[in-house]
Amino acid sequence: MTVYAIIGGTGLTQLDGLTITAALNLDTPYGAPSAPVLRGEYAGREVLFLARHGHPHRIPPHQVNYRANLWALKAAGAQAIVAVNAVGGIHEAMGTGHFCVPHQAIDYTSGRAHTFYEGELEHVTHVDFSHPYDAKLREMLCAALASEGCAHSTHGIYGCTQGPRLETVAEIARMERDGCDIVGMTGMPEAVLARELALPYACLALVVNPAAGKTTALITMAEIERALDEGMGKVKSVLARVLAG
Ligand code: HPA
Repeated sequence: MTVYAIIGGTGLTQLDGLTITAALNLDTPYGAPSAPVLRGEYAGREVLFLARHGHPHRIPPHQVNYRANLWALKAAGAQAIVAVNAVGGIHEAMGTGHFCVPHQAIDYTSGRAHTFYEGELEHVTHVDFSHPYDAKLREMLCAALASEGCAHSTHGIYGCTQGPRLETVAEIARMERDGCDIVGMTGMPEAVLARELALPYACLALVVNPAAGKTTALITMAEIERALDEGMGKVKSVLARVLAG
């Protein structure tokens, strides 16, 4: 059976209901991951869990050691990855509380360590990244969202910004012209590093605020936290369904 790893984002630094059998403090050639990789049982299934921002939540998106995180999960035995990401909504369908399982991504980040293929190489490698997310995992997530009765979009383009600041209205307008439906800060380079390690990867995105300019109000952390509190129960049920297969 496939060993799934869950990467928990903002609002999901721990997975209630996970019976932990080991907390692996792994070192990697790229340094330490954000937190120990937890091995355990969830929904009757062996699973790995990693808190992307550490536990407690303390590492901002641009300082996450994505390479160490992915490397550690692979070393711990992960065979597929479900990433949970809080995002802002750009497309009008992406209201707060809505879920999206993106099928495409645009990377607006800069200066992040974004590849394993650098340094002393025997040969240059360009991985195919035409379709950044795994089709089968996406289908499983969409089926679980439907079974749980969660409002969701089965497709969407995830635009990943550098953060930690939120975007300007003009930046979101440009991203919308580019076709982005949702905006987050952590989807890349995580997805491409998974691809470089040949790990199927998909993203379960929860909209926690309207993106800049999509509301007249300012975006507050209180608003984001409220949406996270309301949405994470659903995220956990969806993950349980995916794992129960
Ligand atoms: N922008 C970028 N990242 C985010 C947002 C946003 O509005 N909301 C949650 N993560």
